[in-house]
Amino acid sequence: MRKLFKVICNWKMNKTISEAIAFCKAVPPLVSPVYLAVPFTCLQPLADLDIPMLQIGAQNLYPQHDGAFTGEVSASMIKETGAEFVILGHSERRQIFSETNEFVNQKVKAALLQDLVPIVCIGETAIEKNQNRTREVLKKQLLESLKDLDTVALKQIHLAYEPIWAIGTGTPSTPQSAQEIHFHLRQLIQEEWGEDVAENMSILYGGSVSDESIEELKKQPDIDGALVGGASLKLETFSKIIALVEGDPK
Ligand code: PGA
Repeated sequence: MRKLFKVICNWKMNKTISEAIAFCKAVPPLVSPVYLAVPFTCLQPLADLDIPMLQIGAQNLYPQHDGAFTGEVSASMIKETGAEFVILGHSERRQIFSETNEFVNQKVKAALLQDLVPIVCIGETAIEKNQNRTREVLKKQLLESLKDLDTVALKQIHLAYEPIWAIGTGTPSTPQSAQEIHFHLRQLIQEEWGEDVAENMSILYGGSVSDESIEELKKQPDIDGALVGGASLKLETFSKIIALVEGDPK
């Protein structure tokens, strides 16, 4: 039996500190943990609000501890704000900022050293999907992004399958094809690292998840949670999504 169905919200580059505080203060009381990934500037102000069950996290980090890396933010800096997790290898980082699997792997290791839970994103483009290369692409991203980690580390990681063709389009993958991919990923994880890791590692789906699609996704046996972007920016849809999944064991 895996854990509670997780909802991780990714605000991307949205909301100023005052907007973020106003939003979080208006969130209805939460029954089970909800994860909110916010811009760096909002980390400490939101963590300081100390809202029960609301875990605050970052959307990126730089893998070095400190030094001459103008404009970057390290895992230890993030940790000190009160953040508890970090999204790594998001497709926007991979595509807009040319992040490679090797770089994502360094970031995962840096996060784990600071006790930040890494949410590691993988996903294929529309072209790769149309060329029937989805499984090959995902395998490479998975194995290279999680390279050289022991089973203790692997069990702390959450994997997010985010097909790039579904992100921000309003059209999510069908629950059935997402389930198929998640099942495949879990098998792959089992082959590589054993059953214990495969059972413990949550695999979340992301890409146009909304209050309309989350219930069907949640019913799928290998979908352990959702990574929600656009629909988490408005209090109304955010609250609806949380209400639809709260407290239900997976
Ligand atoms: P979306 O974004 O829900 O707006 O598609 C998801 C993501 O990029 O994590």
